[in-house]
Amino acid sequence: MTQSQIIGILGAGTMGNGIAHVCARSGFPVLLCDVAQPALDRGLNTIHKNLAREVAKAKLTQQQADAAYARITPTIDRQTLAPCRLVIEAATEKFEIKSALFRDLDRILAPEAILASNTSSISITRLAAVTQRPDQVIGMHFFNPVPVMKLVEIIRGLQTSQATFDTVQALSLQLDKIPVEVNDAAGFVSNRVLMPLINEAIYAVHEGVATPEAIDTIFREGMAHPMGPLTLADFIGLDVCLDIMRVLVDGLGDPKYRPCPLLVRMVDAGWLGRKSGKGFYTYTNV
Ligand code: 3HC
Repeated sequence: MTQSQIIGILGAGTMGNGIAHVCARSGFPVLLCDVAQPALDRGLNTIHKNLAREVAKAKLTQQQADAAYARITPTIDRQTLAPCRLVIEAATEKFEIKSALFRDLDRILAPEAILASNTSSISITRLAAVTQRPDQVIGMHFFNPVPVMKLVEIIRGLQTSQATFDTVQALSLQLDKIPVEVNDAAGFVSNRVLMPLINEAIYAVHEGVATPEAIDTIFREGMAHPMGPLTLADFIGLDVCLDIMRVLVDGLGDPKYRPCPLLVRMVDAGWLGRKSGKGFYTYTNV
């Protein structure tokens, strides 16, 4: 893609604002769309804060940060996305919500536009099937915090064309990311491997094998993980972890992916991790 082509981002939450940040930082004009102004304001605030952090760390000059921020246009009107050559959807991780958005975007966008989803586990093939352009639908799975993590897992649906794949792979490189190609299967590769690790760590707490602190120390100090699995679960969101385990057990049909009862209970209690102030740990500044 050329830097005159507008990228649309649907959803200004944690992932959406991070994706808008990296697209704008790489010189692309961005339309950031959410359903309500407060969600957009929160997203823009986060981008502003994270750009300032990059200036403080001398990764960007103030001028570059200001220019990146100025490339982002917020909108609550989805119709505004019509001129976008590519839209990356980063909405709530529910098939009903994403498929409704894909149907709508398919109607709004020009026939040549590409529709990408930042889904962490929902089938790209199923999302593509609700559109009239299944060959131009693809997964672009970013990692949190998006401005920092290098990986983009690119997921080919059954009908994704080579041209769509090539465009998205090239764009990922333009965004200074490392693209890795995978095929469409529940959880793709990242969450198929990561979530059972997190779920097993939760079983270890559930069965009284060790405390969350002990488990996290083992992974930090023994395996050089930057965060232990329970700190990471709190960071990702326990509701997101549970949703992904359910996609794995449904999609792969193997009971080894059964979510730990403790994870289910914590989500039922509203203990969602860092964003709710309580998960395996307690957070005061949320
Ligand atoms: N924006 C910009 N920069 C940021 C940032 C943000 N949101 N968050 C952190 N940074 C920068 C910091 O400025 C710092 O830069 P420096 O290296 O130049 O000093 C660097 O990232 C490290 O941050 P901190 O020093 O504040 O803190 P840590 O050293 O503890 O690192 C972390 C924080 C990068 C989050 C690190 O703990 C980490 O890598 N954790 C693991 C994250 C991970 O596994 N993410 C994947 C989750 S799974 C996922 O997203 C998939 C989904 O489908 C579930």
